[in-house]
Amino acid sequence: MKPFSSLLALGQCLMFIQPALSTQESLGGPFIHSSIEEAKRLVDEAYKYSREKSLERVRGQSIRPSDVLRLLKQPARDTRSAVRSADYLENTLRLIHEKVHRTHRLHKRSLNATDLLTPQELDTIARVTGCAARVSKPSCRTTPNVNKYRTATSVCNNLKSPRLGASNTPFTRWLPAQYDDGVSRPKSWDPNRSFNNFVLPLVREVSNRILATNDASVESDREFTHMVTIFGQWNDHDLTFTPSSPSIRAFSNGLDCDESCERSEPCFPIQIPLNDPRLPTGPDSCIPVFRSAPVCGTGKSAFNFGDMANRREQINALNAFLDLGQVYGSEEGLARDLRDLTNDGGLLRINKEFTDNGREFLPFTDVKGNMCATRRRITNDTNAKEVPCFVAGDVRVDENIALTSIHTMFLREHNRLAGALLRLNPHWDGETLYQEARKIMGAYTQVFVFRDYLPHIVGPDTMARQLGRYPGYNETIDPSIANVFATAAYRFAHLAIQPTLSRLDINNKENPMFPSVPLFKAFFTPWRLVFEGGIDPLIRGLVGHPAKLNTQNHMMVDALREKLFQFINHLALDLGSLNMQRGRDHGLPDYNAWRKFCGLSTPSNLGELAVVLNNTDLAFRLLQLYGTPDNIDVWMGGVAEPFVHKGRVGPLFACLIATQFQKIRQGDRLWYENPGVFTSAQRKALKNVSLAQIICDNTGITAVSRDPFLIPEGGNTPIKCNNIQQLNLSAWKESASTADQKQQENSDQDNEVSPPPPPPPPPDTPGPSSNICHQQLSAFSVQLTDNFLTHNNTIVFSQVVYNRPNHYNKNSGVFLTTSTTSGDTSFPLLS
Ligand code: HEM
Ligand SMILES: *[C@@H]1O[C@H](CO)[C@@H](O)[C@H](O)[C@H]1NC(C)=O
Ligand SMILES: *[C@@H]1O[C@H](CO)[C@@H](O)[C@H](O)[C@H]1NC(C)=O
Ligand SMILES: *[C@@H]1O[C@H](CO)[C@@H](O)[C@H](O)[C@H]1NC(C)=O
Ligand SMILES: *[C@@H]1O[C@H](CO)[C@@H](O)[C@H](O)[C@H]1NC(C)=O
Ligand SMILES: *[C@@H]1O[C@H](CO)[C@@H](O)[C@H](O)[C@H]1NC(C)=O
Ligand SMILES: *[C@@H]1O[C@H](CO)[C@@H](O)[C@H](O)[C@H]1NC(C)=O
Ligand SMILES: *[C@@H]1O[C@H](CO)[C@@H](O)[C@H](O)[C@H]1NC(C)=O
Ligand SMILES: *[C@@H]1O[C@H](CO)[C@@H](O)[C@H](O)[C@H]1NC(C)=O
Repeated sequence: MKPFSSLLALGQCLMFIQPALSTQESLGGPFIHSSIEEAKRLVDEAYKYSREKSLERVRGQSIRPSDVLRLLKQPARDTRSAVRSADYLENTLRLIHEKVHRTHRLHKRSLNATDLLTPQELDTIARVTGCAARVSKPSCRTTPNVNKYRTATSVCNNLKSPRLGASNTPFTRWLPAQYDDGVSRPKSWDPNRSFNNFVLPLVREVSNRILATNDASVESDREFTHMVTIFGQWNDHDLTFTPSSPSIRAFSNGLDCDESCERSEPCFPIQIPLNDPRLPTGPDSCIPVFRSAPVCGTGKSAFNFGDMANRREQINALNAFLDLGQVYGSEEGLARDLRDLTNDGGLLRINKEFTDNGREFLPFTDVKGNMCATRRRITNDTNAKEVPCFVAGDVRVDENIALTSIHTMFLREHNRLAGALLRLNPHWDGETLYQEARKIMGAYTQVFVFRDYLPHIVGPDTMARQLGRYPGYNETIDPSIANVFATAAYRFAHLAIQPTLSRLDINNKENPMFPSVPLFKAFFTPWRLVFEGGIDPLIRGLVGHPAKLNTQNHMMVDALREKLFQFINHLALDLGSLNMQRGRDHGLPDYNAWRKFCGLSTPSNLGELAVVLNNTDLAFRLLQLYGTPDNIDVWMGGVAEPFVHKGRVGPLFACLIATQFQKIRQGDRLWYENPGVFTSAQRKALKNVSLAQIICDNTGITAVSRDPFLIPEGGNTPIKCNNIQQLNLSAWKESASTADQKQQENSDQDNEVSPPPPPPPPPDTPGPSSNICHQQLSAFSVQLTDNFLTHNNTIVFSQVVYNRPNHYNKNSGVFLTTSTTSGDTSFPLLS
């Protein structure tokens, strides 16, 4: 149900039962307007204060780990206006409530402010705060190419219900939220409140007693590489991003969340247990945490409307589809900013200052205040040159350098594809090149996730049960990401992260100059890519070394539990505690409620829990903390389960993860296997794509295992890149005649998805034209350092990429410059 529409509907009902006060006491337009204005001023001021404070800390190098987390979860652009609208609405209602009670000397809560509002007044508030606009139904009629290309937000993926799965809409719920007060307050907000006769344990206590391990003793995975882990993070950043409010202080009392352990919206600090091994304990010692932003009209503001069903919901800033939003951006504005619009090549912007041995880096951000200026602090070299953060489609791109490396590789692949498509179809304009390359990239990720990644995570049995053959598009399926997926299940891989990011040289050996990096020194360090050998060593490390194995006695490494975002000597964060605190913040139901949802047993005592976990000791320690299995935080319970057969999660998370991906696939009108999205020849070619090929085509790596997710041994030892199949793009070749024909079909049959029609050549502007091949004869460039060639030396290249027929001879190493007829363009892309 759309939260806000129900809120408005409620307003309509109230019309008939009000007014509770006599007419001279009704609120009136001026009162409403002044309340809205005051709320806006309060919120704007809090935002401004917070922004300045953050900038000050970043500039003054006094940035704290909690600032980093907050900045990482900052809403930007349209997400920011969604969050701001919700803050306006909530504060308007709070102010009206307070004023009414002050004026009428009413007891607290004896009357709900909104009972006094007419439907017109509610409409006004919804409109002026911007909340109404968030649920209005957009028209898909004017969306260009709505059957051919995805919009950045994925609005209009579902034509009947255009916001389904779109960016900046609420996370969906598969089970209703459970809050302490029924609508908004997290469990454990009141630390003395008991559930099922037990008080919930402090999350940090659970972390200390269950998750802690020492890094030296972690076990490595015998089958899967660290690429599997970081690919998971990469994939998550296509699907979920939960913003928090930009404000670092409470709206109602001005309390600064960083300075106090008091729980006051939006501050929800993590309390430190007695005898914590690292963190100081005491009434004023806690890790500051900020609640995730609410959706307009849910939680507290709905509470004021007396609608108990309207519990607090959280916002997903990203769209739910596998579309590589982390490369392209999940909002039109960001997507545009990431493009290179200085020419008509359909390219993404690249770094202008640095290259990685000639290959592209991501562009730098131009925001003020540099969170990535970590080099001097980490290296102790006060003269070291700092670089800004990289930007990409997802703001978390700089979170660790392995993730940044994957981002970089896919940026290059987009530009490589756009270039190849231009050679194939010189008449395509920049927009077509961009969209067609982006569309291929989207298919890549769908293939990699479903064919290569998920089977390793949920195991073959769950695959067969829930994620087998593509069942076809079903417009009634809601693809939206579930709160429990983002906040618990898909965080399973936090326990599969190695304490070290491995960097290997061309011989797959530790590089003495730029050795492997402890993870906690790899957060927000883009300078390590720029000045320490680029992305190749990290990619080699990811595919050459195993993942950490999540075992029941070695769960989370210290880099994440004791040193998260530690740059200087301030309270480092604990990702385990954060995951559980976040689950409570979002009102996630408990472990057993989810077991039941999945049709699994619900253990009710030690004996039964011991069976489920296949581990009596662990069950015992969990019950010491929680008292009953019914109280276990779902993330904690989920990661404690033994793996399903051949998977890397237990039965509960296998079910939740598979259920989510099932909906993502079936509810995607533009899924790559949905007939009409690609031609059948294109679909065939796409069945053959591989991550190995992406690595080969976009790095200096010359040999890689066929399946980079599997440990490179046995049948999976590295093979030369020229033995790895490349994407055969010939199915994307569009001759002038087929284009005309397709255009005809397109106008006949509006719903058919067809290849783009050729745009008319621009009248005067110089640009790609049919004689492009005559103009661009330079096939490649190389850097030979000091190895000057003597007159007749020939360098023979073993592989030919984008070679026009007979242009380059692989045996002689000689270019033949004879045939340059422009009609001759049906060249294969493979040698
Ligand atoms: C070095 C590696 C990683 C670090 C430092 C890291 C750190 C974090 C942090 C700080 C958060 C926000 C916590 C909160 O306040 O709620 C987070 C959220 C999350 N992480 Fe990780 N993470 C890493 C790897 C991974 C991996 C491998 C996966 C999954 C396969 C993953 C999945 C998620 C998900 C789904 C979220 C929720 C995102 C959202 O909706 O906002 N992370 N992570
Ligand atoms: C919780 O209980 C303890 C001891 O009974 C008391 O000192 C404390 O003030 C209570 N805390 C809250 C928030 O009610
Ligand atoms: C006002 O909100 C309270 C919750 O505080 C709710 O229980 C009550 O039904 C509402 N009152 C009216 C008159 O709607
Ligand atoms: C950095 O310098 C400080 C003071 O000179 C010293 O105490 C610290 O150990 C150094 N750290 C490293 C990593 O070299
Ligand atoms: C689409 O999904 C709905 C809900 O699961 C189901 O009832 C319906 O039968 C499905 N339609 C098709 C064509 O599969
Ligand atoms: C249960 O644990 C025992 C050892 O504690 C182990 O040998 C066995 O493989 C485990 N079973 C499962 C299904 O994980
Ligand atoms: C896909 O790969 C298979 C086996 O490697 C090959 O036979 C086939 O021609 C490829 N298909 C396309 C369209 O490239
Ligand atoms: C590429 O695919 C086309 C058909 O779409 C086929 O004719 C051609 O042989 C393929 N090339 C290679 C190298 O597989
Ligand atoms: C250079 O190569 C050409 C063709 O192979 C040959 O005719 C010529 O003698 C060579 N010149 C030298 C200086 O080696």
